[in-house]
Amino acid sequence: MSTETSYADKVAEAVEGRSEMFDLMSRHDHEQVVFTYDPSSGYRGIIAIHNTALGPALGGTRFWNYDSDYDALIDVLRLSRGMTYKAAVAGLNLGGGKAVIIGDNRTTQREMVMRAHGRAVESLAGRYYTAEDVGTSVADMDYIHMETEHVVGMAGKSGDPSPVTAYGTYRGIKACSLKKFGTDDLAGRSVVIQGAGHVGYFLAEDLRAEGAKVFVADIDGDRVQRCVDELECEAVGADEVYDVDADVFAPCALGAILNDDTIPRLKVKIVAGAANNQLAKSRHAAMLEERDVLYAPDYVINAGGLINVYSELAGWTLERSKRKAGEIYSTLLAIFDLAAADGITSAEAADEVAMRRVHAVTQLHRTYV
Ligand SMILES: NC(=O)c1ccc[n+]([C@@H]2O[C@H](COP(=O)([O-])OP(=O)(O)OC[C@H]3O[C@@H](n4cnc5c(N)ncnc54)[C@H](O)[C@@H]3O)[C@@H](O)[C@H]2O)c1
Repeated sequence: MSTETSYADKVAEAVEGRSEMFDLMSRHDHEQVVFTYDPSSGYRGIIAIHNTALGPALGGTRFWNYDSDYDALIDVLRLSRGMTYKAAVAGLNLGGGKAVIIGDNRTTQREMVMRAHGRAVESLAGRYYTAEDVGTSVADMDYIHMETEHVVGMAGKSGDPSPVTAYGTYRGIKACSLKKFGTDDLAGRSVVIQGAGHVGYFLAEDLRAEGAKVFVADIDGDRVQRCVDELECEAVGADEVYDVDADVFAPCALGAILNDDTIPRLKVKIVAGAANNQLAKSRHAAMLEERDVLYAPDYVINAGGLINVYSELAGWTLERSKRKAGEIYSTLLAIFDLAAADGITSAEAADEVAMRRVHAVTQLHRTYV
């Protein structure tokens, strides 16, 4: 093979590769993807900005040892798009973005990696704000802050988001109750909470204050006991949580817990909890519906965490954040109405409501001032 041919092949390969990359971006309308490499620290990061129609893109930085760069790219594209939907449906002036750092997140050499990432964030000049995510900590945010102001969730700032997340989830459960039972009064209703952690505990507190009967399950016995002792909840074994005869199942622990094995076991009429990515597959939303179980889409009902982070940028008080999280009530009712009107699942209706807001703001008439 002549040198000329091999050069031509390389150009062809490069062109083809580039079109694949832009094809990936255009598939879900991503605005910008930034790849950054820092040789001295070994930092390899990707920042994906999905949509900034509503405001600066915001989303955490995930530090993960991906099998390939391609896997990392797919993950950051998927997660950044999810952030656009989440912020839009929560009524925030935020766009969707996300970052991944490729590598072993147990590394002790964190400062230079995080500072290199901070510089990558800074290069976007405020188009992207980062925060904590899987594999990164509050201490990492402090390193990132050495290089950029465009970081939220640092120590001493907006603080633990769990009470706001729990409050939004509680309001979401009330909306579901209104839709399903014709009243949002939770006195005497029964709710089974999976995961008595940060969110689960505060949710149990909100529910008990209204007189609901609350069952709790956790693999950590001490956390269950605390709810029993302090809030008069009833303990349930972690394996029996799907079999409890209650009105509401509130997943507040793990993802993918709504699947082919668990859904047939459910005796509840409502699934409404704070855990992320509850549906193992998107078809499981339809499976719940077929069984007459009302599903509150996870990213809608758990938006209190994002609202709490936003409060740091907007300078909101805790009361104002809670008020905003309380609006999850009416948002969910609008989603259920749309689902019923269009014959789609509540999960599909949530995406539709989110994108309608993005498009509506994009098309707002501009007037000259
Ligand atoms: N903290 C927030 O503000 C927030 C915001 C949005 C979404 N979420 C999501 O809500 C969920 C809970 O968050 P958190 O901050 O309370 O986490 P956490 O780690 O404080 O609590 C999770 C609890 O689940 C328990 N758990 C783990 N596996 C379990 C199992 N198989 N069965 C029963 N319990 C199990 C853990 O022991 C722990 O007590 C997560 O999915 C999180 O991503 C949290």
